[in-house]
Amino acid sequence: MNHSISQLFDLNGYSAIVTGGAMGIGKGIAIRLAEAGANVLIADIEDETEAEETMATIKALNVKSDYIKVDLRKIENVKLVVEKAISSFGDIHILVNNAGIFKYTAATEMSEELWDSTMNLNLKAMAFLSKEVANIMISKNHGGKIINISSVDSLKPTGNLAPYDASKGGVRMLTRSFAKELGKYGITVNDIAPGGVNTPGAAKMMGANVSAEQMAAMKAQTEQFLKSLPLQRMGEPEDIANAALFLASKASAYITGSTIIVDGGLLIL
Ligand SMILES: NC(=O)c1ccc[n+]([C@@H]2O[C@H](COP(=O)([O-])OP(=O)(O)OC[C@H]3O[C@@H](n4cnc5c(N)ncnc54)[C@H](O)[C@@H]3O)[C@@H](O)[C@H]2O)c1
Repeated sequence: MNHSISQLFDLNGYSAIVTGGAMGIGKGIAIRLAEAGANVLIADIEDETEAEETMATIKALNVKSDYIKVDLRKIENVKLVVEKAISSFGDIHILVNNAGIFKYTAATEMSEELWDSTMNLNLKAMAFLSKEVANIMISKNHGGKIINISSVDSLKPTGNLAPYDASKGGVRMLTRSFAKELGKYGITVNDIAPGGVNTPGAAKMMGANVSAEQMAAMKAQTEQFLKSLPLQRMGEPEDIANAALFLASKASAYITGSTIIVDGGLLIL
């Protein structure tokens, strides 16, 4: 149990899957885990260009990296991701369920299609990928780390995000359910709840279906909001990646079923 600081955070010899690892928060996490020595499989719907770029950064760190192009809203693809990780690295020790979509809609106007695609990616894919990976970790008898990306919206709704908020509330409880059952196998399951983070997805959401005038108003609102936020800035993917490294490392050995809130103080406003 007596590890040096560098041993605590050393992921050499471990293999990880990061869903949605081509861009944004997932990319930040994939690179940080690789910096600690882990091999990383990126599972993403994004075209090869973004994923290739992330993979090149990872491979330059002298670890293995691979990519599988998948739409995780389709549950049958979950098994393909696990097969790819096993064929590329031989084992899985860390799973980061990060891929998620967030689209504004008034609760009174939400479509069944948006509800289904949000739930299928944000919650169902996470549940079934966790199931597959947990079974591998159990059969190999080496424990493991499952890290789910939830949101501050799992604790407090932003507004106009009902399907998203419901999915992220589900993530929070899914994390606790899995943690309760998997602890005896040495598998920890935790989630990270980010606040506002600068990512391509967040930029797209801000700019969706708005006029230049509305955009200017939103920018002014954001500036105002950032001034009122205790840490007075947006989060960066690296902020979330640092929490993910902690949860993937030996330093978090006695933590399971927990949420790490990484929000610059948003929830204490
Ligand atoms: N950015 C924020 O402010 C913020 C805040 C709270 C929580 N989060 C959560 O963090 C996670 C990542 O968000 P982000 O801001 O980096 O998003 P992003 O849109 O910038 O990146 C998401 C990644 O997921 C991939 N992806 C999307 N749909 C997919 C699908 N069907 N199958 C496989 N991959 C798919 C995308 O190609 C992309 O690489 C999400 O779960 C999101 O809910 C983000």
